[in-house]
Amino acid sequence: MAEVKKYTMAEVAQNKGKNGPLWIVYKDGVYDLTKYTAEHPGGVDSIVDEAGTDATKAFDESAHTPDAKVIMAKYKIGELVEEEKRYDANGKKKKKVVQAAPEGSSRSCMSVITCGLVG
Ligand code: HEM
Repeated sequence: MAEVKKYTMAEVAQNKGKNGPLWIVYKDGVYDLTKYTAEHPGGVDSIVDEAGTDATKAFDESAHTPDAKVIMAKYKIGELVEEEKRYDANGKKKKKVVQAAPEGSSRSCMSVITCGLVG
């Protein structure tokens, strides 16, 4: 089986369609819409506005029927690299990994407040 090509968001961002390829990301998939944009029933601008970015939200919030996803599938060129994926194997959005606050940060915050009150 052919290997799935992997891209980073930085690479996607370089394909904004200005005199060149137009890529977007939809749920971790990378799509080359260069040849599709002109025939998009929702207009050229709606896709150009999302060029080089993650268009998942814009796509899902627009008036799309299931047909749109069938068309989209034809333009898939790869996926985001594992580290940049935002959806799990079931297509559910992964939980954000919240970085633990550095130790003592709450205390220094408290002292700022206290100093503010005292001084
Ligand atoms: C990713 C590839 C995309 C494909 C293949 C696609 C395909 C389609 C298709 C086939 C329709 C006609 C209705 C339907 O059958 O669903 C449509 C309509 C529409 N699309 Fe897209 N679309 C894409 C991306 C986007 C994006 C990124 C936006 C951003 C806002 C967008 C906005 C719209 C809107 C607003 C309509 C409704 C047009 C109307 O008023 O009838 N589409 N699209």
